[in-house]
Amino acid sequence: MSTEVAPLFLFISPSQIIRNLTISRVLLGALAFVIFRFVANAIYRLYFHPLRNYPGPKLHAITQIPMVLHVWRGTYVDMICALHEKYGKVVRVSPHELSFNDSRAWKDIHGHQKPGKVNIIKHPDWFVPAINDVHTIISADDVNHSRMRRIFSNAFSDKALKLQESLFAKYADLLVFKLKEDAKNPAHAVDMVRMYNFTTFDIMSDLTFGEPLYLLDNADYVPWVKNIFQSIRTGSKIGIIRYWPNLMAFAKKLTGNTFQKKRVIHFDYSSARVDRRIEKGSEEPDIWNLVMNAPEGKGLTKGEMYANTTVFMIAGTETTATLLSGVTWYLLKHPEAYTKLTEEIRSSFESDADINIETLQRLKYLRACLEEGLRMYPPVPIGLPCLVPQQGAEVCGEWIPGGTTVSCQQLAMYSSEKNFRDAKSFIPERWTGEDDRFATDNKLALQPFSYGPRNCLGKNLAYHEMRIILSKILFHFDLTLLPESDDWRTQEVYTLWQKPALKVKLTPIRE
Ligand code: HEM
Repeated sequence: MSTEVAPLFLFISPSQIIRNLTISRVLLGALAFVIFRFVANAIYRLYFHPLRNYPGPKLHAITQIPMVLHVWRGTYVDMICALHEKYGKVVRVSPHELSFNDSRAWKDIHGHQKPGKVNIIKHPDWFVPAINDVHTIISADDVNHSRMRRIFSNAFSDKALKLQESLFAKYADLLVFKLKEDAKNPAHAVDMVRMYNFTTFDIMSDLTFGEPLYLLDNADYVPWVKNIFQSIRTGSKIGIIRYWPNLMAFAKKLTGNTFQKKRVIHFDYSSARVDRRIEKGSEEPDIWNLVMNAPEGKGLTKGEMYANTTVFMIAGTETTATLLSGVTWYLLKHPEAYTKLTEEIRSSFESDADINIETLQRLKYLRACLEEGLRMYPPVPIGLPCLVPQQGAEVCGEWIPGGTTVSCQQLAMYSSEKNFRDAKSFIPERWTGEDDRFATDNKLALQPFSYGPRNCLGKNLAYHEMRIILSKILFHFDLTLLPESDDWRTQEVYTLWQKPALKVKLTPIRE
């Protein structure tokens, strides 16, 4: 028997050959069309697009792909900082998007509406309603935003903060107590990221649900909190699909289901807790007691209460814990600043009971360390995308065409020598007003809580929380950074920093 293999065409009929040739032609045609479109788009975007004269890498002007790859890998912020260093204060980071690290952009993009002008708005593709399809204070249009902001302002006023003071002290004390327990073990190594997270989540939960999550007590996260961290990361990754709106529905089918299910679990959990809190009633100055007395018809719907709860539990926890972790690391890497701050705190208070809102506000070096921490390690390091209205708008003295996405990039703004001298070094003295070297620093560039009518509502609360927690820790303990956390600051960013464990040894210095 012959072992020769018959030529393949002997087994294929002429009609099959013709069909295959037709399929190949169609595929080739489609490929040629895609290439043609890409090239035509590239030529348009490089030479005819309204943003053609803005500086930036050519590849970024042609396609979103480089941007998207950086978002996916968690290197987006590094890339933005590098582009600003190379190209200057405004960079075309993708075909329809400009990034600014010029401090004037804060006012132009986020400032109050100018008379007779249409405002730049928060980008509707990024700021979407909650899972119940109800807009939150973060995503609402300007009219609804003003209504909600008025209502919630009661719960974040100075008066409210004073009423809530004992609650902050209670959790800061519990944190100190838990750390002292831990320090009894001579081999202890505390992960300060976890401890700060436990504290800020317990505080915010008490303010929004009328009860803590008992993270400090149980020394562990609950699945709901783990889910928050995971969805911030996943949300950032799958958010890249916004750059290709046509693929959105398809991608949602492919990846969205599990993500969506997690969002629903998160939402149901917090809504149930709000219901429980409302049913139970409370005498405490928590958020709901301070907002529920709005006049009839001007209050919040149940849906808005649920939707905004999710905002508070994310915006009011992870951010503050991030800054505390960052400042702790920077202080431990800069022994002279650490010594100066501990001396200020320990010499200002005779006992723990003296630490309160008023006395903490007097500590100048503490304030300077927090400002420098916010500059070197802003909890929201990215730029929040905004959309220029069809009429166009002026930003930093230039006319920006309608439909352009614009943003103020926080880390790129703060790490630029154009705004701050020795911008890459942690030097709290620049904020004390007593060091002439920093007289030329552009202090207005630092807006870690954003700017204008939609800036952070929890800013005062956050400052108080950060002051009391950091002061109590430095009042009670000597801290040493453990070698495994020496390089802690090297991190990815998925909208927020992806913080690894911050391992510290604490030595109690008083009972
Ligand atoms: C260091 C801590 C914090 C930082 C750096 C920070 C930063 C920010 C930023 C950048 C925004 C603007 C977001 C946007 O435009 O979409 C914002 C908004 C907001 N933050 Fe904070 N935040 C902090 C702590 C807090 C705390 C403790 C709360 C308390 C619940 C809070 C509640 C809010 C709320 C409700 C908004 C929305 C305000 C509005 O749209 O009118 N934040 N925050």
